[in-house]
Amino acid sequence: MTSSASDYCYTYEECKATADWLLVQTGVRPKVGIVCGSGLGGLADILKDQVVFNYEDIPDFPQSTVQGHAGRLVFGTLKGRPCVCMQGRFHLYEGYPVQKITLPIRIFKLLGVETVILTNAAGGLNQDFKVGDIMIMKDHLNMPGFAGNNPLVGPNDQRFGERFPCMSDAYDRELQQLAADVGQELGFGDFLKEGVYCVLGGPSFETIAECRMLHRLGADAVGMSTVHEVIVARHCGMRVFALSLITNQAVMDYDSRERANHEEVLETGKLRAEQLEKLVAAMVTRMEHNDDLI
Ligand code: HPA
Repeated sequence: MTSSASDYCYTYEECKATADWLLVQTGVRPKVGIVCGSGLGGLADILKDQVVFNYEDIPDFPQSTVQGHAGRLVFGTLKGRPCVCMQGRFHLYEGYPVQKITLPIRIFKLLGVETVILTNAAGGLNQDFKVGDIMIMKDHLNMPGFAGNNPLVGPNDQRFGERFPCMSDAYDRELQQLAADVGQELGFGDFLKEGVYCVLGGPSFETIAECRMLHRLGADAVGMSTVHEVIVARHCGMRVFALSLITNQAVMDYDSRERANHEEVLETGKLRAEQLEKLVAAMVTRMEHNDDLI
C-alpha cells in the first residue's frame, strides 16, 4: 500500500492536545518562539525561570537524532519576555516527513506564540561572505518544495490557515530592520549581512556544480533546515525572522582543497554563538517595547 501525505499530517486536534498538555505543566505563556540551529542551542540556556521538557516526554513529538541538537523544549523568559525555545530541530535527512518536522511550529501557534525566530548554520555561497558572518534571511529558495515536498501538502485545515498562503512577505521586514539596527548598536556591523537562503534535503553536502548552480539561481547561503518551518509559521499567521550563521564557505572551485564537514559547522557555531545570542536577546527586548511588532 502506498502512503499519502494525509498519513503523515497531524490533525488540528492532535496538535491542540500536545499544546494543551504543555500548557497544563507550565505557567509560561510564550509570545515568542525560537528554533535553535546546529550548535546554536545556547540561546535556550539564557532563558530565566526555565521549565524544560525532553522531546521524548512530549506526546507525538519527534526525537532529535543529530549531534549538536539537544532535544529539549525550554520555556522561560528572555529579559522578562515569555518565550519557548526548541533546543534541537528536525530535518528531512533524519527521515522525518516534512509534516512531522514542522509539527512544533503549529504547537507554537497553539501555545499563543505570535513571532517565530529561527537560526541555522549554513554554507556561504555569496563570495562576499566570510565564515562567521551572520546573515539576516530576507527570502528563500525551497528546493524540496519544487519537487512537491512542501509541508502544506495534504488536507488543509482552515483553522491553521488558507490553502494557498502568500510567501512574498514571509520574512518580516520590520524585524529585519530591527536586527540591522540592533546589530549596528552592538558593534556587529562588520559581520552582519543579509541574503537569500536555499534549503536542500541533505544529508550529503553539495557538489561544486550544485554550489555554482545555487549561486547563479540567487542563493547567498545553503542549508538543510528552516524553510519548512517558515512556510508553516506563515501559513498560520505568525511573524517570522530568521538568521543564518555562515559556518563554512561552500566550495565553488575545482582547485579548492576545502571540504565541508559537520565538525567545522559546530566549531564556528561555538565561536559566534554568544554574539548571535546577544543579537536575538536584544531584539526580543526591543520587540517588547513595540507592541505592534509582537
Ligand atoms: N551545506 C549545507 N548545509 C550546511 C552547510 C553547507 O555547506 N553548512 C552548514 N549547513
